[in-house]
Amino acid sequence: MSKKVLILAGDGIGPEIVAEAVKVLKALQSAGAIDVVLEEGLVGGAAYDVWGDPLPAETLTAAQSADAVLLGAVGGPKWEPLPIAKRPEKGLLGLRKGLGLFANLRPALLYPQLIAASTLKPEVVSGLDLLIVRELTGDIYFGQPRGIETLPSGERRGINTMVYTESEIERILRVAFDLARRRRRRLCSVDKANVLECTELWREVANRLAGEYPEVELTHMYVDNAAMQLVRAPKQFDVMVTGNLFGDILSDCAAMLTGSIGMLPSASLNERGQGMYEPIHGSAPDIAGRGIANPIATILSVAMMLRYSLDAPQVAARIETAVSRVLDQGLRTPDIMTPGMRQVGTAEIGDAIVAALAEDV
Ligand code: IPM
Ligand code: MG
Repeated sequence: MSKKVLILAGDGIGPEIVAEAVKVLKALQSAGAIDVVLEEGLVGGAAYDVWGDPLPAETLTAAQSADAVLLGAVGGPKWEPLPIAKRPEKGLLGLRKGLGLFANLRPALLYPQLIAASTLKPEVVSGLDLLIVRELTGDIYFGQPRGIETLPSGERRGINTMVYTESEIERILRVAFDLARRRRRRLCSVDKANVLECTELWREVANRLAGEYPEVELTHMYVDNAAMQLVRAPKQFDVMVTGNLFGDILSDCAAMLTGSIGMLPSASLNERGQGMYEPIHGSAPDIAGRGIANPIATILSVAMMLRYSLDAPQVAARIETAVSRVLDQGLRTPDIMTPGMRQVGTAEIGDAIVAALAEDV
């Protein structure tokens, strides 16, 4: 039976990069490798402009009934003056919460062809292959109370609340232990247990679960040290698991190790295996509409979609191989350009990946 994929291009470079990912999906469809029905919807600023709401009910309903969602990016300066509740980012957060996408997988893999594009020394990053598992529906992103209030003195006070229940911690840690078990069996849980009770509980739960996963070596690291270790010696990590806010920050940091944030895909999964797939970079309004954005993170997100939600791991691997071949050909968008390579635009990379897929039969 065909699987339903909802396409949400969003804002900024979203439509350009998603168009290339859709090319890949359609090419695989015509070749008979997958059986999908593509639907389109509005989210973020694009939805606000039409409906006055960054997450129209129609979009949420379509996402809930899809097997997978492919999302470009949301946000941009145009919508910054809006109140937080109407900002494009709320569309994204609403989808995460509305679909219960608590497990966010953010792999940071260095393609050997891009070693010169990293700002770190080759010996520090060569062979890098780590996975950040970020909790995505809790923490200070959603905790109550929140807001800006005015005190009797007239001074204003901003409030957000870091909060996790034991069951929320347990379910994300189980995902991370399971993934670590299938990789190099090392799990580093990142917290700030020396200061924050919320993460003291996190650490306690992690230690309790470790007994059930004797083959996985569990370690703990404070988040400030983890940020430092990621740039000092990133290859010490296999799987890192952490809360929503720390995961947001550490995953951007990990992304840069691979040369460009334009290379990194992500999967956000719920308990039913439904998923939303998106590049981890944002809407890059500064380069939107110029046809120079790197579509690879979005195309690799399609590969993750095939692996985790559409039950087509072999086709996922074909996409990853095609990306690698295109890098071998020396084609580069400006973000990963290095001397001696050929600089091309968004569509050329998409076309080259489709061509590489066609050759690989
Ligand atoms: C991310 C982004 C989002 C987040 C923003 C756009 C709301 O930075 O997916 O990492 O903070 O989670
Ligand atoms: Mg982020």
